[in-house]
Formats: sequence, C-alpha cells, structure tokens
Amino acid sequence: MMIRTMFKSAALASAVAVAAVATFAFNSPAVSAHGDVTPQAVDVSHLPPLDGPKTSNPYVGNPDAIKIGSSAFNQNCARCHGLGAVSGGIAPDLRYLPTDAETDEYFKGKVQGGAIRNGVTYMPAFKDVFKEEAIWALRSYLVSIHTEP
Ligand code: HEC
Repeated sequence: MMIRTMFKSAALASAVAVAAVATFAFNSPAVSAHGDVTPQAVDVSHLPPLDGPKTSNPYVGNPDAIKIGSSAFNQNCARCHGLGAVSGGIAPDLRYLPTDAETDEYFKGKVQGGAIRNGVTYMPAFKDVFKEEAIWALRSYLVSIHTEP
C-alpha cells in the first residue's frame, strides 16, 4: 500500500494540473464530435472466456489479448495516457506500472473505478463499459510494453 501511495503521488502533481483540461475534454460537445470520447466496447470473443472475476491477469503473455488490449487502449485510454501508452504528461505513463500480481489487482480497480475526487473526473470509470476479459486484455498489452522509468 505504501509503495502504491508513493507511485501515485508522483502522478498527482501533474494530474491536478490537468484536471481542468481532462474534465473539459470530457464534457465538451466539440470534443465528442470527434468520436474519441465515448468509451468503446471491446470485442473479447476471441479470448478464452473467464468463469468469474479475477484478481490477477489470466491472459498475461497471450498474443490475442495483447493485440485486443492494444486496440482497446488506443481507443479508450490514449487520449489521456498517450498513443502506445507513451504519456504526453497529462496522465501517468502506464508503461511504468509494475508487472506483478498486486498491480494486476490495483490496475483492475483503477480501470473500473476511475479517478473521481471532489466531483472532478480525472479519469472516467470504465466498470460499465468493459467486461472482465477486456480489462485483462488491456493489462496484458501494458505488461507487454512495460518499461522501467
Ligand atoms: C480523461 C483522461 C483519462 C482517460 C480517458 C483514462 N485515464 Fe487513466 N488516468 C488519468 C489520470 C489523470 C490519472 C491519475 C489519476 C489520479 O490523479 O489519481 C489516471 C490514472 C490511471 C491509472 C493509475 C496509474 C498509477 O500510476 O497509479 C491507471 C492504471 C489508469 N489510469 C489506466 C487507464 C486505462 C487502462 C484507461 C483506458 C481504459 C484510462 N486510464 C483512461 C486519466 C485518464
């Protein structure tokens, strides 16, 4: 938990600075017109179905999961976290997330719940958009491009 808190605080300064930008982008009709704001459902029919919620990534290393995750990432996450997950500085660089099982669980929670504090949406919640399979496909993709800071 301590490690996680430290990891977050590094991201916090920039997150606070861009909060206004992120919320604006999210609520702005002009931006929605570009079609990249509405969360995109992810087709997971090519992945082995899961028999229930997992706390660690069941697809790690699975090439189909990585491919699906890559596409899902570029459609749903890249506008804040950067194309190919190379952060442009407005949200944490997700290539740096540790690849361990503890971070699998943290990742899932973050994607489902987003980051919403004091009524400000720093990151939207995706729990109603993504099935369990889609979350682990995203995680598989990010683990496959993991980089040390
Ligand atoms: C509207 C911009 C936005 C979008 C879209 C977005 N995020 Fe985020 N994300 C952020 C911000 C800003 C933070 C830092 C949040 C904070 O301050 O707690 C963050 C934090 C995270 C974290 C925690 C990182 C850490 O270092 O602790 C993860 C994991 C994450 N996002 C994954 C995703 C994934 C996967 C997607 C796509 C499904 C996504 N995000 C879409 C803005 C966004």
